[in-house]
Amino acid sequence: MIGVRGCRTLVTLAGPARPRVGPELDTLAAIDDGAMLFDGSGTIREVGDRSHLEAIAPAGTVWHDAGGAVICPGFVDAHTHLVFAGNRANEFDMRCRGASYSEIAAGGGGIRSTMRAVRDATEEELLAAGTRHAWWMLRNGTTTAEAKSGYGLSVADEVKLLRAIRRVGEDTPLDVVPTFLGAHALPPEFDDRREAYVELVIDAMLPAVAGLAAFADAFVEPKYFDADAARRIMAAARKHGLGVRLHVDQLTRSGGAELAAELEAKTADHLEQTDADGIAALARAEVQPVLLPASVYALGLAKYPDARAMIAAGLAVVVATDFNPGSSPTPSLPMAMSLACTQMRMTSVEAILASTVNAAYSLDLGDRIGSLEVGKRADFLLLPVEDVREVAYWFGVELVTEVWKAGQCVFRRG
Ligand code: NIG
Ligand code: FE
Repeated sequence: MIGVRGCRTLVTLAGPARPRVGPELDTLAAIDDGAMLFDGSGTIREVGDRSHLEAIAPAGTVWHDAGGAVICPGFVDAHTHLVFAGNRANEFDMRCRGASYSEIAAGGGGIRSTMRAVRDATEEELLAAGTRHAWWMLRNGTTTAEAKSGYGLSVADEVKLLRAIRRVGEDTPLDVVPTFLGAHALPPEFDDRREAYVELVIDAMLPAVAGLAAFADAFVEPKYFDADAARRIMAAARKHGLGVRLHVDQLTRSGGAELAAELEAKTADHLEQTDADGIAALARAEVQPVLLPASVYALGLAKYPDARAMIAAGLAVVVATDFNPGSSPTPSLPMAMSLACTQMRMTSVEAILASTVNAAYSLDLGDRIGSLEVGKRADFLLLPVEDVREVAYWFGVELVTEVWKAGQCVFRRG
């Protein structure tokens, strides 16, 4: 058995075996001077007071001393575009000079620009780029990340990208949940043939990638994919055993929340433009909203999703980074939590639960990760702080001093 003790506070985030809603989302479960025992496979066996655990620990338990740090669960990033080639610093500069995301996309940049870089890259090059990004996430405390394809936009390039995504999960300590995002943008060879591209996604891409992904996603937005295309792609994705996530209501109010509710999607992501009717539809269908404040921030926009109305409606809100080279070039969940607090008026405890427990349930992993409870995996962080709320409070600093994944220390700040 392996034990960890000597922490200031063990933030377990323990609670009901389902996502947190309403006042539960602002409730912090923690044990002062707590300790934890886990077995060689990294499964948590005991959580409690240090003195109690020392009394019941089997002979030969190897204890790790937390040095007075706060311990909390590893962060779970439920919306990322983890693997891509190149960067779009040129577009960032264009936006600084006043161009909009849509104008840049209309000029051939945007998602298509990263598509060109991904098509030109080998699987090995994508693996190298994804590995670099995975370590950025780990250093910021993320132990599990969802990762979308959507920059290949041909059968061969989507397969190549999803293979690279899976290999990042095998080659690094980051656990990766792959999502197929074939309907991310129309590739240029299908200009004026949108319907033919949707058929390619359904008839050729989905069969080729189904074994490589856990979820399917689509960018539902005028000039990208409409509700009808999303309905057909997601119906086909379900037949291949994939769960449904959707990018909706990001740039325009286009009924995306209602669509996610109609399709009983696991998550509706973005929701910057969603109004009270859309929120009510999500609540009726129990769709989890995935809020991505870093993408609003990095696009220099001002309209954030209405997190307070969503929480008041009883929705199990998730906060994620949307890490990608265009709209959200940050791998840091603490940065997203900071923005959730300052721009969406979430409390720091709400932001932390939204990035751990609720994020885990949105990936169908709530029984394994997100909180530190018996039977779950020992994925946890050491933070040299007095109060876990400092995670959302400090910004622009890498606070995490140790990252433990499945009971093993995988990162220690030198
Ligand atoms: O979630 N909105 C669509 N997809 C991404 C942006 C991808 C890109 O610009 O490369 C997003 O913001
Ligand atoms: Fe996204």
